[in-house]
Amino acid sequence: MIISTRRYPIHLSRGSLNRVGQLVSPRGRVFVVTATALCELGERVARSFDPPATVITMDDGEANKTLATAERIVTELLEHNAKRDSMVVAVGGGVVGDTAGFAAAMFLRGIDLVQVPTTLLAQVDSAYGGKVGVNHPKGKNLIGAFHPPRAVVVDPDVLRSLPDRELRSGMFEALKGGVLGDAALFELFEQHRDAIDQIIERAVRVKTAIVDSDEREKDLRRLLNYGHTIAHGIEAAMQYQGITHGEAVGWGMIGANEIAVRRGLLSDRDRTRIDRTIRAWEPAPVPADIDRAAILAATEHDKKNTGSMRVMVLPTGIGTCDIVEGISEAEIAAGIEAALG
Ligand SMILES: NC(=O)c1ccc[n+]([C@@H]2O[C@H](COP(=O)([O-])OP(=O)(O)OC[C@H]3O[C@@H](n4cnc5c(N)ncnc54)[C@H](O)[C@@H]3O)[C@@H](O)[C@H]2O)c1
Repeated sequence: MIISTRRYPIHLSRGSLNRVGQLVSPRGRVFVVTATALCELGERVARSFDPPATVITMDDGEANKTLATAERIVTELLEHNAKRDSMVVAVGGGVVGDTAGFAAAMFLRGIDLVQVPTTLLAQVDSAYGGKVGVNHPKGKNLIGAFHPPRAVVVDPDVLRSLPDRELRSGMFEALKGGVLGDAALFELFEQHRDAIDQIIERAVRVKTAIVDSDEREKDLRRLLNYGHTIAHGIEAAMQYQGITHGEAVGWGMIGANEIAVRRGLLSDRDRTRIDRTIRAWEPAPVPADIDRAAILAATEHDKKNTGSMRVMVLPTGIGTCDIVEGISEAEIAAGIEAALG
């Protein structure tokens, strides 16, 4: 299946990993960038090109999503004589996609990029929208660029080897897409249906419809931050240990729902449906003695907030949500309690 966005096609089908070379049209040489641990997947993609692509590996994990890693990729591209018409194919999760994508954006002021996401989170979220970048010691994702891919190739078969916790982490981001923009997608989660292909397709459509209409994150794109204000607070208070980003988003959605109900934006009935569904997918619990003040303090630095005004995305039903300004500290504190309750 091909999902067309304004700027690039998304090829979504089982087995497509072995056909990347036929699905995209490189103008020159091709460089597959992948994680050392995912070499086998990277080699398969490389062999799908004629002549086979050159494979460049990087160490995986958030700690390696750095300027130094991106620079090393650029150095390898130079050593292999890559040119302006060369193409980078990023094969991996969000860490590889962001880092290799940023290297492609920097190299000779930008060469073609194809994303081949291999985690569920990357397949439903990070591979689209053109945001690429790396972390800085002072914070995550502080260095980056907009560099939309030429194409995205999604093969749900590769998720078979993904650890269960990573799979579930992606599920919460997809579930988020259902609540904010697609009731039928939410219902797949509510019914706990084993329908991963449908989940990916619907979640991709929600994400790409939003980023397509607003590529530089001025307004609509902020909708994707549903659940993220309190999630960032929880992740920061836990020093990014013991909880995945997706799980934190699950708890963050429960917190946002509380604020939406208090404001009369969301019915109790819909809140119950959403909260129950999130809990049914079993996000790792947040320690009961977590420092609430640290969570609250971290939400203040949330990038959606402009000046002292707090802005949050609140659901107004299942499949609809709003960007709401002027959220008070007391409301966020109540949301945090609900998320931890
Ligand atoms: N650019 C964006 O718009 C955007 C959006 C959301 C998140 N992100 C970024 O994405 C990153 C998180 O990405 P992630 O959740 O994919 O994590 P990840 O890239 O760290 O991958 C998680 C783990 O899964 C392994 N893995 C990947 N594919 C596998 C497979 N098929 N089988 C077995 N193991 C596999 C990886 O080696 C890694 O150990 C963060 O850095 C985040 O900032 C970016």
